[in-house]
Amino acid sequence: MSATNAFRWNLCLLCLLCLVCLPSGATSDEIQLLLKVKAELQNFDIDVFDSWESNNSVCNFRGITCNPDGRVREIELSNQRLSGVVPLESICQLESLEKLSLGANFLQGTISGDLNKCVGLQYLDLGNNLFTGPLPDFSSLSGLKHLYLNSSGFSGLFPWKSLQNMSGLISLSLGDNPFERSPIAEEVFKLYDLNWLYLSNCSINGTLPPEIGNLNKLINLELSDNSLSGEIPAEIGKLSKLWQLEIYANELTGKIPVGFRNLTNLENFDASDNNLEGDLSELRFLNQLVSLQLFDNSFSGQIPEEFGEFRRLVNLSLFSNNLSGPIPQKLGSWADFDYIDVSENSLTGPIPPDMCKNGKMKELLMLQNKFTGEIPVTYANCSTLTRFRVNNNSLSGTVPAGIWGLPNVNIIDITMNAFEGSITSDIAKAKSLGQLFVGNNRLSGELPVEISKASSLVSIDLSNNQFSGEIPATIGELKNLGSLYLQNNMFSGSIPMALGSCDSLSDLNIAHNLLSSKIPSSLGSLPTLNSLNLSENQLSGEIPASLSSLRLSLLDLSHNRLTGRVPQSLSIEAYNGSFAGNAGLCSPNISFFRRCPPDSRMSREQRTLIVCFVIGSMVLLGSLAGFFFLKSKEKDDRSFKDDSWDVKSFHVLSFTEDEILNSIKQENLIGKGGSGNVYKVSLSNGNELAVKHIWNSDSGGGKKTRSSTPMLAKRSGKSSEFDAEVQTLSSIRHVNVVKLYCSITSEDSSLLVYEYLPNGSLWDRLHTSRKMELDWETRYEIALGAAKGLEYLHHSCERPVIHRDVKSSNILLDEFLKPRIADFGLAKIVQANGGGKDSTHVIAGTHGYIAPEYGYTYKVNEKSDVYSFGVVLMELVTGKRPIEPDYGENRDIVSWVSSNIKTRESVLSIVDSRIPEALKEDAVKVLRIAILCTARLPALRPTMRGVVQMIEEAEPCRLVGIIVNKDGVTKKMEGKTEKFNPSP
Ligand SMILES: *[C@@H]1O[C@H](CO)[C@@H](O)[C@H](O)[C@H]1NC(C)=O
Ligand SMILES: *[C@@H]1O[C@H](CO)[C@@H](O)[C@H](O)[C@H]1NC(C)=O
Repeated sequence: MSATNAFRWNLCLLCLLCLVCLPSGATSDEIQLLLKVKAELQNFDIDVFDSWESNNSVCNFRGITCNPDGRVREIELSNQRLSGVVPLESICQLESLEKLSLGANFLQGTISGDLNKCVGLQYLDLGNNLFTGPLPDFSSLSGLKHLYLNSSGFSGLFPWKSLQNMSGLISLSLGDNPFERSPIAEEVFKLYDLNWLYLSNCSINGTLPPEIGNLNKLINLELSDNSLSGEIPAEIGKLSKLWQLEIYANELTGKIPVGFRNLTNLENFDASDNNLEGDLSELRFLNQLVSLQLFDNSFSGQIPEEFGEFRRLVNLSLFSNNLSGPIPQKLGSWADFDYIDVSENSLTGPIPPDMCKNGKMKELLMLQNKFTGEIPVTYANCSTLTRFRVNNNSLSGTVPAGIWGLPNVNIIDITMNAFEGSITSDIAKAKSLGQLFVGNNRLSGELPVEISKASSLVSIDLSNNQFSGEIPATIGELKNLGSLYLQNNMFSGSIPMALGSCDSLSDLNIAHNLLSSKIPSSLGSLPTLNSLNLSENQLSGEIPASLSSLRLSLLDLSHNRLTGRVPQSLSIEAYNGSFAGNAGLCSPNISFFRRCPPDSRMSREQRTLIVCFVIGSMVLLGSLAGFFFLKSKEKDDRSFKDDSWDVKSFHVLSFTEDEILNSIKQENLIGKGGSGNVYKVSLSNGNELAVKHIWNSDSGGGKKTRSSTPMLAKRSGKSSEFDAEVQTLSSIRHVNVVKLYCSITSEDSSLLVYEYLPNGSLWDRLHTSRKMELDWETRYEIALGAAKGLEYLHHSCERPVIHRDVKSSNILLDEFLKPRIADFGLAKIVQANGGGKDSTHVIAGTHGYIAPEYGYTYKVNEKSDVYSFGVVLMELVTGKRPIEPDYGENRDIVSWVSSNIKTRESVLSIVDSRIPEALKEDAVKVLRIAILCTARLPALRPTMRGVVQMIEEAEPCRLVGIIVNKDGVTKKMEGKTEKFNPSP
């Protein structure tokens, strides 16, 4: 529980303690009113209303508290999974009602003007619900002390006017609602008793006026995720009681004002993601700080030495600023220091030694600075540490042995420093280690055989060091190993045969070592190998024929001592250069070196431009990550200069530029997507491809700008963004993500060449005339596979990829009806810094699948994909489309489903009638996951990783779990932030 929640919780307890519950008879009209309320509200599966019976006293109704005279004073039904429309007409007739608490339910519809009749209310909580429309005038509720309307979908004008008479207001919470954009109105600054003000994420613009200083009883002030601009007013220094100040994700400028030092009670301060500048000296005196987050600003100067004396500080995030000078060496030595990220500054001096002194430290992120000295030996015992990243500094000395064996560490990244010494056998204890990046140092010695005990390893990069000895054969036991970079070392002996057991290996680079003897034929059996670089060694013997069966985008065996014939299928132009510098090799058909039989049909003059090389048979692991630029200098004359484009890939099966271009015509059109048309290309050899023609990248989608080539739209302007996306997407490799074989890019056109999937889209199979009978098991497999594809995009890529247009028509089915996530036309790669806070600012997506936050924040993150995926799950379970006339006005499948989850019968009734009765319970389990995924608040949705787990377990999801966070007030995620080095 966050400190914020804890505080709210205490407030609630306090309120409860004030109450005296006296059983007493109620007037008969109050019974009637409450029975009407019962009739209007439904709950999913808790029996809230069991005690609400006409023969019972209202004071004994669950959730009701009476005055001594037997009249209803309080209704406390928050967090009870209620749905329906709030019957305010009845409720506001309860004359003694002082408290109405209906927060954290599934209440819908609009709030009626009857609210204004609840004149006696002191406490009103309607927050965390699913309301729509604007708030009515409620200015007559002048006795209100606590008002919670946050996270409830209210739109329209901000209710500033209604607040003007509420001079006794203590808590005001209106954040996370899609109100119309407006500045903070002066009414707020007359609420002198306020001690809790939550106005995050509700479209506030303009400046923060000096009058904020009037609210000097404020304990909590949250204004994050708005569009506040201008400077922080100096008057903020008058809020001497302030305990939490959250102003992150705005457009604030200027310095931290003089007088800020007066906020001596401040424990949590987050001003990250603004345009603030100047130094941090005003913060020197805030020695109660527990969490300080100022990342993504332009702060400069030194980190005040006083920070080292902050005895309660546990969380410090200052990355992406211009800070310089040393870090206070006593930093973190007092409290249970947990997290530091000072990456991407110009900090110097040594790493403070005691940040893990209290044994709590989880993340140490100090990359991209100018730190010097050694890694303090204290971190060798920091068993809680999960991330240790000090790359790109000037650190030196020996890495303390215990670091290699930290039991919980997921990533050790010390690349680009001047470390010496070796990796020790301690690494056997690193059971959680997934990524070991130590490239570009001066490390030496042998790689210990115990590395195989670090069984979680996915990536190893030891490149550009002085490692020697043999590559241990035990490395073959690393079943998760995806990349192994050992280039530019002094490894000797032979390449271990056992490497062929690393079933997940996709990139292997051992170039520039002293390896000798033969290339083991076992490498040919690595099922997912994508690039293989063994160049610049002393390898001898013949190239094993088994390598012919690999589907590589890069092969480099050059500058060895190989002899004999290059296998026929490797003797292709794309491998031009792959075998250079092996005087003993000969080839049946490459002209670059000695031909065995002098016969070649490949002529350089033929303009058979082999632009993309594709594994023919649509075998799994394709994903030829080739990424080429075709740059035609003169379009009319298609004579490309050899040096105008770069071929790094090879083909087992090749096709020509003409073959693709000639197929881009109307009769081959098989689909139109948001970002372009899709054509089916049947190659002369019988293989099939899907080629997507991308529209002008400037125009967003659909808008064609014709060029002189009739069917090809012109691409111009910001192509580098497009290129970056393609580059990332082309490296995505997952069985549930459609394979992008390559892109063909010229000044005139952008074509993406994908595998062709014969069974079309899930949308077609579910909803169109090409509908198929999909049994529940198949639907379940489609749900699980698609979830895994999205999980991969969100969690397994170097940087998370947000799809942004997840829908059933973008889930394609192969010949076995296995799903593939397709169409990345709108995808955005989340830029590295700021994990949870990352979001992109473009509205995208398809009606019916768009998460509600698109409506007001213009920001999306992975959770928006989760929402859309929830819609797909609902389609699978119900067989219905996201938008159908049956659902009534303004309603979609999400609200239709949520209005049908009141009883078991109604839930079963919405399961697709084509699913047999016996399996309907299973389908309901998936429907429950779908409901979780479509939670209104992004923070309440599970991650795709969680979704996959839930689908795998197919256990009923616990709806309770999604709304425990009643307060929902602080939904901020801590900045998990670091940048990822692109792998070499
Ligand atoms: C705030 O936004 C509204 C609506 O977009 C706009 O009319 C107004 O000019 C903005 N005010 C400021 C101070 O930016
Ligand atoms: C900060 O406190 C000092 C001493 O109490 C006072 O003189 C100063 O005016 C205060 N600054 C602000 C901005 O309130």
